[in-house]
Amino acid sequence: GGIITLDPGYKNTGSCKSEITYLDGEEGVLMYRGYPIEQLAEKSNFTEVMYLLLNGELPQADQLSKFENDIKDHDMVSEDITKILAAFPSSAHPMGVLSTLTSSLTAFNPKAVNVKSEADMYRAAVTLLGKFPVLASWTLRKMKGWPLNYSDNKLGYVENFYQLMFKQPNKDLEMDPIVIDALDKLLILHADHEQNCSTSTVRLVGSAHTGLFASISSGVSALWGPLHGGANQAVVEMLELIQEDGGNVQKWVDKAKDKNDDFRLMGFGHRVYKNFDPRARIIKKAADQILDKLGIQDEALEIAKKLEQAALEDDYFVSRKLYPNVDFYSGIIYKALGIPTEMFTVMFAVGRLPGWIAQWIEMRKNNEPIGRPRQIYTGPAKRDYLDISAR
Ligand code: CMC
Repeated sequence: GGIITLDPGYKNTGSCKSEITYLDGEEGVLMYRGYPIEQLAEKSNFTEVMYLLLNGELPQADQLSKFENDIKDHDMVSEDITKILAAFPSSAHPMGVLSTLTSSLTAFNPKAVNVKSEADMYRAAVTLLGKFPVLASWTLRKMKGWPLNYSDNKLGYVENFYQLMFKQPNKDLEMDPIVIDALDKLLILHADHEQNCSTSTVRLVGSAHTGLFASISSGVSALWGPLHGGANQAVVEMLELIQEDGGNVQKWVDKAKDKNDDFRLMGFGHRVYKNFDPRARIIKKAADQILDKLGIQDEALEIAKKLEQAALEDDYFVSRKLYPNVDFYSGIIYKALGIPTEMFTVMFAVGRLPGWIAQWIEMRKNNEPIGRPRQIYTGPAKRDYLDISAR
């Protein structure tokens, strides 16, 4: 065979051409379909951004309302899926439950599985966009032991998701516009991030022509890990630990620097950003504003700021270009919005869903070949089999 280039972790290997998201890690630039993330976070809304990622252009009013209606047409989940949910213990991590339920959609929506034409792909996409927030909310309600909710067609996507999570029987749910706006902004910021671990997983699984739901279920599993989306939960757990430990941030910075200690500063560092993660800038500002507007004082936010400052002044972090990433401040906002820590990565998944779907569809439309990396073999040379008595 030819020469194989080894690149563990694909640090320098491009896996595809893509028109969806542009990222410049040296400059801290992020754009969806050419639109800077700062403008989208400020002026757009999550439904528009979903449309943009999937279709390449911002929608006109009639296109947007058709898109919203198409999603609403698919927001019912088979009652049988509640039986799968019921079999989980309430201690199950919501991300594991979400991955399972997403995969199970395959069994209940056979028409959306074998997609070939653009119309098939669109139907599969809106089917999943409709059902995924329902499943995500059920992972919370399972954990809490609350009765399950169903979608409300009168509400917008984010309000509906919020209601799915928090509405209790016979009680009105207050929908504070500050809370809904904050949620909307967080979902926009998470909506796509080019070839990250979970998106690459979705594309790799899909490259075998595996269906959309099973591919996305794999993406959920990839996102779960603490080095990826799971970092948002890990950050808040870390901040709480630092708080309980007396709030000495320098001690934890030193611990993160210690090569004999596998502790890392969660929410710090990024494979591509060697400058501030632009999403972290927006989220830090939003965290301040939201806590202020909601009148919440959170010691964790103060510790996060001190920790950030201590790290940014430390030569270890400076020389390695380690900056806060998207997950450093997002958990503090989720906490302020009343979302339990175990749900943070599920929130990330709901945000990332349109990106995963757009990338999966792009991969299929471009007729990409099956993903199949090579290796360099380092095992034993040929040897002869010995009978068990002779070993
Ligand atoms: N704390 C302490 N040291 C770190 C950290 C950290 N958070 N991140 C990287 N380093 C060190 C690392 O030990 C290595 O040092 P050395 O050169 O002495 O061996 C150097 O910085 C380069 O790190 P790397 O592990 O080679 O970089 P990577 O591109 O493979 O990993 C990362 C990127 C995000 C996995 C890593 O920075 C990390 O583990 N961060 C903490 C987890 C986290 O916040 N993840 C969220 C990522 S952003 C959103 C998302 O993907 O969901």
